[in-house]
Amino acid sequence: MPETLYGGVQNRRITIRDLQRATDAHERWAMLTAYDYSTARVFDEAGVPVLLVGDSAANVIYGYETTLPVTVDELLPLVRGVVRGTKRAMVVADMPFGSYQASPTQALENAARFMKDGGAQAVKLEGGHRVLPQVEALVNAGVPVMAHLGLTPQSVNAFGGYRVQGRGEEAAHRLVQDAKAMQQAGAFAVVLEVVPSELAREVSAQLHVPTIGIGAGPDCDAQVLVWQDMAGLRRGKAPRFVKRYADLAGVLLGAAQEFAADVRGREFPAPEHVFH
Ligand code: KIV
Repeated sequence: MPETLYGGVQNRRITIRDLQRATDAHERWAMLTAYDYSTARVFDEAGVPVLLVGDSAANVIYGYETTLPVTVDELLPLVRGVVRGTKRAMVVADMPFGSYQASPTQALENAARFMKDGGAQAVKLEGGHRVLPQVEALVNAGVPVMAHLGLTPQSVNAFGGYRVQGRGEEAAHRLVQDAKAMQQAGAFAVVLEVVPSELAREVSAQLHVPTIGIGAGPDCDAQVLVWQDMAGLRRGKAPRFVKRYADLAGVLLGAAQEFAADVRGREFPAPEHVFH
């Protein structure tokens, strides 16, 4: 009986070898973002094999408009919480803008903080050829690296907005070359964000390491969503690639309103909530 990612690995953390084995066996797998102990525990219990402490924390935790302002110091405590909340999931720490672009040394210093102080098992960084020396330095130092191509939000100002990437022959060719370079440099997986599904299919066919899609169609080896999008905690219009599996904002709103009404009406605390 082959060991599947979901059925087989129960008593230890998922490793990059497990992910590669699942990918080789054409087993699809999921990644979710996580930013705190309590939700990480739930996602770990749900069997989600990889949790990403994304720099999307800039938006969904800290309320910044883009991912650019968030720092290693702001992400580190979130990584620690997610690691403490999990027994099984691989925890990937996202390297924020300005924490790796300057040099391989800077990348290694900050990745080491996420692994030594945070307890993460891997890091993710954005970019293709331009971060090749960083990826090589990290991999040579024994740091598992997840690459991230396509609509890389840290480059939103260079892109002139959040728009589909890799459209047109030249851009598609560049993205394929970037993906191959990342794999060649030793990245264990490549996130493809908001690219045409035909291009994601081609990249997935050309790489042996897993591709992880977000807005990249059904042919990636794995899929990732920001958990607040997946569970409907983020209000407003979601991007087209998001599927909402719950209305958590509605549930929380109702609960908070009911609690406040109970306090106002002296319904809470009731006798069963009181010590004597
Ligand atoms: O920061 C993040 O949440 C991400 C995922 C969307 C891949 O990079």
